Amino acid sequence: MMSVDMRLNLHFKVLILTLIVFTEELSNKEGVQAWTYHYNTGPNQRWLEARQWCQTHFTDMVPIRSQEETEFLNNLLPFNPKYYWIGIHKVAGVWAWAESNQHVSEEDQNWATAEPDTIAGQDCVEIYIKREPDTAKWNNEKCRNKKGTVCYNVSCAQESCSSHADCVETVGNYTCKCHPGFQGPRCEEAITCSPLPNPEQGSHQCFHPYGSNRFNSSCHFHCERGFWLLGMPQLLCQANAHWDNPVPLCQVEQCPVLDFTNFTGGSMNCSHPIAPNSYNSTCDFRCDEGFELFGLNQIQCDNSGKWTASVPACTVKKCSPMSSPVMGNMTCVDAIEPFSFGSQCNFSCQEGYSLTGDNPLTCLASGQWKYSTPACTVVQCSSLTDPPHAHIQCQDPVREHSYGSKCTVQCEEGYNLIGTNVTKCSSQGTWSHALPVCQAVRCPSLTSAPHGSLFCSDPHGEFSFGSQCKTACEEGFSLNGTADTDCTSAGKWSTDIPKCRAKRCPTLTPPAHGSVVCSDLHGEFSFGSLCMLSCVEGFNLNGTNNTECTSMGTWNREIPHCLAKRCPTLRSPSHGSFACSDPHGEFSFGSRCTSACGVGFLLTGWADTECTAVGTWSTDMPHCQARQCPLLAKAPQHGRMNCNHPNAPFSYGSHCGFECNEGFWLRGTPATTCNNSGQWSQNLPTCQPVQCQAISGLPLSLSMNCSHPLGNFSFGSQCLFSCNQGFSLNGTAALLCSSSGFWNDSRPNCTGMSMESAMLLYTGAGAATAVVILILIGLVLLIMMQFRRKGNTIVSDVPVLEDRENPAFEF
Ligand SMILES: *[C@@H]1O[C@H](CO)[C@@H](O)[C@H](O)[C@H]1NC(C)=O
Ligand SMILES: *[C@@H]1O[C@H](CO)[C@@H](O)[C@H](O)[C@H]1NC(C)=O
Ligand SMILES: *[C@@H]1O[C@H](CO)[C@@H](O)[C@H](O)[C@H]1NC(C)=O
Ligand SMILES: *[C@@H]1O[C@H](CO)[C@@H](O)[C@H](O)[C@H]1NC(C)=O
Ligand SMILES: *[C@@H]1O[C@H](CO)[C@@H](O)[C@H](O)[C@H]1NC(C)=O
Ligand SMILES: *[C@@H]1O[C@H](CO)[C@@H](O)[C@H](O)[C@H]1NC(C)=O
Ligand SMILES: *[C@@H]1O[C@H](CO)[C@@H](O)[C@H](O)[C@H]1NC(C)=O
Ligand SMILES: *[C@@H]1O[C@H](CO)[C@@H](O)[C@H](O)[C@H]1NC(C)=O
Ligand SMILES: *[C@@H]1O[C@H](CO)[C@@H](O)[C@H](O)[C@H]1NC(C)=O
Ligand SMILES: *[C@@H]1O[C@H](CO)[C@@H](O)[C@H](O)[C@H]1NC(C)=O
Ligand SMILES: *[C@@H]1O[C@H](CO)[C@@H](O)[C@H](O)[C@H]1NC(C)=O
Ligand SMILES: *[C@@H]1O[C@H](CO)[C@@H](O)[C@H](O)[C@H]1NC(C)=O
Repeated sequence: MMSVDMRLNLHFKVLILTLIVFTEELSNKEGVQAWTYHYNTGPNQRWLEARQWCQTHFTDMVPIRSQEETEFLNNLLPFNPKYYWIGIHKVAGVWAWAESNQHVSEEDQNWATAEPDTIAGQDCVEIYIKREPDTAKWNNEKCRNKKGTVCYNVSCAQESCSSHADCVETVGNYTCKCHPGFQGPRCEEAITCSPLPNPEQGSHQCFHPYGSNRFNSSCHFHCERGFWLLGMPQLLCQANAHWDNPVPLCQVEQCPVLDFTNFTGGSMNCSHPIAPNSYNSTCDFRCDEGFELFGLNQIQCDNSGKWTASVPACTVKKCSPMSSPVMGNMTCVDAIEPFSFGSQCNFSCQEGYSLTGDNPLTCLASGQWKYSTPACTVVQCSSLTDPPHAHIQCQDPVREHSYGSKCTVQCEEGYNLIGTNVTKCSSQGTWSHALPVCQAVRCPSLTSAPHGSLFCSDPHGEFSFGSQCKTACEEGFSLNGTADTDCTSAGKWSTDIPKCRAKRCPTLTPPAHGSVVCSDLHGEFSFGSLCMLSCVEGFNLNGTNNTECTSMGTWNREIPHCLAKRCPTLRSPSHGSFACSDPHGEFSFGSRCTSACGVGFLLTGWADTECTAVGTWSTDMPHCQARQCPLLAKAPQHGRMNCNHPNAPFSYGSHCGFECNEGFWLRGTPATTCNNSGQWSQNLPTCQPVQCQAISGLPLSLSMNCSHPLGNFSFGSQCLFSCNQGFSLNGTAALLCSSSGFWNDSRPNCTGMSMESAMLLYTGAGAATAVVILILIGLVLLIMMQFRRKGNTIVSDVPVLEDRENPAFEF
């Protein structure tokens, strides 16, 4: 289609031809003009002016980019004798587009024949529109020449297309040429790829810059643990609506195939949940009985394609190695390995040895031998014990009485060997020979001696070696020689047979004062001898009068003594003694005794006596009598007498003591003894009354009247007092002389007189005292005179001993 804007023509005095060509062919072709064309209908212009004009009013001078554009313009433009300038000129000697200053390629150049010429200064190009020949061809001309002007104007604006397109000028319009990956009128829509599936055991993650699964979307693929990605890990949505690579796959990790060729002695169980020998494949191992697992009992294919461990091994259980027993052999059959599970060993022994223990031995699944190792023990013969009277001596190369032992038998001394003296232990455990017998050697026969008998012990036969014979004598007989005799190893008796002789008693000697007479049966003082004993006159046999020699060789009784006859035992007279001479023993035949009396005693009878041959004393024993003192008939008056008489009344040794009654005192010695000459040792004492103080010097007013039954102012005296007229008695009226020699009270006074008379009385009393003393002296003299007179009433009734005869003779 074609259109011409007439308005522009008018305004610019130019013919502006606006030609819009919009055909399918044109739009499809590169470089098709998409512009509007405008030519100046005014005067022709120089090249530079023409261009400036185009640039001022339109975009630029037509550059002529294609044949189509050339043809289009040739048709459109009216003929101009000067033809039209185009936007090509020479720059530095080279033809270039004015718009871009780019070099015009050789093929794009569309020169008329013989053009471009090389005339200097022809640096601009014109097109021969509607010229014959060389229609629409180019010619170089001087730029200052004036020609027609033709311009073009673009139609693309900024907002014409989206950012994903290039705006392309077309003839009379524009078109949006989309960038790869985009579509739509403005190329706004990104091209869509098909959605991606997840691979098995995998997943993907996408980045969508222009929407889900559209152009330039990129997806990254991952596999689960134990799987690896086969293919490209990342996919890109291409402009052609296809992903740049196929979806990748997740392949399971593969482990190496296990080699079980060396796994023996056990079983295994493998499971492959995913794929053979791949991730999560598991193998379990178990060893057979008798095998031991070395390694893990389970291995697994891990996520990196490696087995967690190598295949374990089942090694056979080993028993401890064994060797042949001493003196034996061992043969083993091994099922698997030497001395391992299933091995069986047989044991055998050399000759003369036997196997002890179990045979054969098997190595058990536990790695232990079923039994303990057997041993070869030497064959044992029965143990030998010494036969009677023999000694065995063995040479034992191995053990006592075992195979190889050689034993020699030897009889004891006195025995003869009967049989073989050597025997050997065979490999069968038997002895080669029976043991020999040892027989005792014989001695000559024996007979017993007279009065004797023979007793023999024959351990090894009668009168043989070891026989012991004992000679026993009859009772009363003893052996002369050795009783025992032995049969020696030489076959001889050790001594001669002994004899029996009567036993001897000790030789008897007669006792003193006696004699012995014996009768003998088998010899003097020997077994059977009887001896009689007798004593001389005056002697008695103390014991039995005979003794006999017994079979023991002893006298059956002690030899008796001849004892002097005994007289009765004498007793010494009391208070006397005797002395004897005893030629044959005390109080025995021949003894003479003389008696004597002690001091104070007199002997009566015969002093001497003698023991006679018939055992009586010749006289009786005498007596001893104590000497007599005079008889003491009475005790002293007012006194007592107490006598003891150890021998006889009032004789030697008699003792008499004296005491006085109360109120009397003893004058003389209180005791007397009869001495060995028949005299009393002391005179007899007397008992005198106790004396009180004589009362004298009485005051004139006091008178006294006394009575004296025993003596003046002595025990028993009583005095009565009375006072004169005008005086009264002050005190007791009577005083009594007590047995202790004191008055029973103090003397009384007569009161009632003057002081002067009292004074006189005292003076008179002093004078009277001298008078009283004189009176007393006279009294004593009187008493003494009266004592000398008989019949005096005061005289004691006890006789005075000196004046009397010896009382003993008055009896
Ligand atoms: C040339 O093109 C521009 C842009 O497309 C437009 O604005 C202008 O009016 C055109 N000029 C003429 C004379 O057609
Ligand atoms: C130019 O092209 C555009 C898009 O292709 C279209 O919309 C428009 O109508 C055209 N203009 C003319 C005058 O043909
Ligand atoms: C598409 O992706 C490629 C590579 O990533 C990049 O070079 C290009 O610019 C992208 N295109 C668009 C339109 O984004
Ligand atoms: C098996 O055992 C033999 C002998 O020990 C050895 O040489 C071989 O490498 C083993 N094989 C494996 C897979 O272990
Ligand atoms: C592998 O084994 C582990 C442990 O038993 C289990 O958790 C996991 O789910 C297994 N993986 C697969 C893919 O079966
Ligand atoms: C034991 O073994 C040795 C050597 O093999 C052999 O000479 C001998 O005769 C064997 N003895 C027995 C009792 O088997
Ligand atoms: C054993 O008897 C033999 C003769 O029979 C003799 O030669 C040998 O000396 C005897 N041995 C002993 C130890 O008596
Ligand atoms: C024993 O007898 C011998 C003579 O055979 C004789 O000499 C000796 O005295 C006797 N001995 C006795 C104690 O009889
Ligand atoms: C007399 O014999 C008897 C008994 O035999 C004895 O006890 C006594 O002492 C003997 N007399 C004397 C004096 O030997
Ligand atoms: C010995 O004593 C006994 C009595 O005891 C008498 O019968 C005998 O005659 C005495 N013999 C002699 C020899 O005196
Ligand atoms: C008797 O004598 C005593 C002193 O000796 C005297 O005290 C008393 O008075 C006398 N009595 C009389 C009656 O004179
Ligand atoms: C009596 O008199 C005498 C002398 O004067 C005196 O010593 C005596 O004690 C008297 N007697 C009494 C009983 O008074």
